[in-house]
Amino acid sequence: MSANENKLINLTLKVWRQKGPDLKGALETYEARNISTDMSFLEMFDVVNEGLILEGKDPISFDHDCREGICGACGAVVNGRAHGPEEGTTLCQLHMRHFNDGDVVVVEPWRSKAFKIIKDLVVDRSALDKIIQSGGYISVNTGGAPDANAIPIAQEVSDLAMDAASCIGCGACVASCPNASAMLFVGAKVSQLKLLPQGEIESDKRAIAMVEAMDCLGFGNCTNEGECEVECPKGISITNIARLNRSYFKARSLFNKNK
Ligand code: SF4
Ligand code: FES
Repeated sequence: MSANENKLINLTLKVWRQKGPDLKGALETYEARNISTDMSFLEMFDVVNEGLILEGKDPISFDHDCREGICGACGAVVNGRAHGPEEGTTLCQLHMRHFNDGDVVVVEPWRSKAFKIIKDLVVDRSALDKIIQSGGYISVNTGGAPDANAIPIAQEVSDLAMDAASCIGCGACVASCPNASAMLFVGAKVSQLKLLPQGEIESDKRAIAMVEAMDCLGFGNCTNEGECEVECPKGISITNIARLNRSYFKARSLFNKNK
């Protein structure tokens, strides 16, 4: 058991409050009292919100669903780090034992032109869905499960595809990138399909469509800063961006040749 487990701590929270998308927001201060270090960050918010509701105040809005690090719904910038200080951890899986009694904790929403703030810490991440809608799927007939099982795929290739497929679409890569680029997300989505024979067929078309959608939706470009890889809770490697770039430039040169 670590020194900080099974304790009660008090924190000062500075949380971004914003009533609506086009309204001005500001950091507001709240005291979080008697927080068990066994709680998750979102459970700590639940406690603070119960107090706010009892006082007749508006609870802090934040996104969440599974609370198991699977769905990608949660996320906020905690003391300047997307999903908080622990590597490979979503906000819902971040435990209060990583904080100390008396800490001041600043919590802000994902900030990006493409992610409009809906309320407080809740942002509209539908731009990521629109990128997927532009081409992040397989539309050719791939047969049934027995057909897929009949295609031999090298273990190392299927491992790379599975690693890329672990992206949960949380948007932390965008929030941590100085250019608010979604290249790690797009790189993961393109890679998980391109690495397998069923996805390779449409990979040229897919790379162009998804990069163009990303540009249109207001995300920035990748300049190899690397913050996205550090802050990604699923450890998605920036080698997926390199794979995306190779696919995109190859597809573009073929497209230009055939014009
Ligand atoms: S690449 Fe990582 S940080 Fe970006 S959306 Fe996927 S899981 Fe989240
Ligand atoms: S609530 Fe689902 S990943 Fe955090």
